[in-house]
Amino acid sequence: MLVVDHLTRTFKSGGEEVHAVSDMKFSVDRGEFVSIIGKSGSGKSTLLSMLGALDKPSGGSIKVDSEDIAKMNDHSLIRYRCHKIGFVFQNYNLIPNLTAIENVMLPMEFAGSGNAERKTRAIELLRQVGLEDDQMRRKPGRLSGGQQQRVSIARALANQPSVILADEPTGNLDEQTGRMVFDLLHKLAKQEKTTIIVVTHDLEIAGKTDRTFRLSDGKLTEVKK
Ligand SMILES: Nc1ncnc2c1ncn2[C@@H]1O[C@H](COP(=O)(O)OP(=O)(O)O)[C@@H](O)[C@H]1O
Ligand SMILES: [Mg+2]
Repeated sequence: MLVVDHLTRTFKSGGEEVHAVSDMKFSVDRGEFVSIIGKSGSGKSTLLSMLGALDKPSGGSIKVDSEDIAKMNDHSLIRYRCHKIGFVFQNYNLIPNLTAIENVMLPMEFAGSGNAERKTRAIELLRQVGLEDDQMRRKPGRLSGGQQQRVSIARALANQPSVILADEPTGNLDEQTGRMVFDLLHKLAKQEKTTIIVVTHDLEIAGKTDRTFRLSDGKLTEVKK
């Protein structure tokens, strides 16, 4: 379902060129849970941003369900980000002045479903990720890191995406909370047959995924299990 070929992203900083992603090739099947490990600065976030159409490749193709997102116009890219992709970030990226429920409703608003329907689904998703009723009505500032990451997982699942991209989702959490959040992501994605690509520093977490790739020198190599 995801086929990346000759993917390249070059940054120019000062007089120098940085090849963050260089002639990369890999593919991921529907429903697979894939982890990417690699040193800081090896290009992991650059790769996820391109897969999520937040950044444009310098070259190569990214085919999702046979459509090349590197070639899409802006209108199609907005639709792609809204319907096909769910993001989970290290720092949660929730909107501070909205409640947990409103944060989860937001992507559904962009997708155009009705208000009552959105609210019902948001509450249902937040229950699935283990939030209590009174916690759902709080703004992110009054939730713990683990609770905020659960809200962001619910938000990522809101429009039933084909792919969830998670950039160090447990990076700001203590070990135990991180494991719980990770197991939750794993369970929900398997239930919905969602493909997940997770960037992580945690080798124990990487060990639980179906496949692991290491990113170095702008290229991915699969780590045999
Ligand atoms: N917007 C940018 N402009 C210039 N250089 C960038 C930019 N984004 C990332 N880089 C460079 O690309 C390389 C990969 O960065 P990044 O993808 O953030 O790595 P990682 O997420 O693995 O830590 C680094 O050398 C970084 O400095
Ligand atoms: Mg990064």
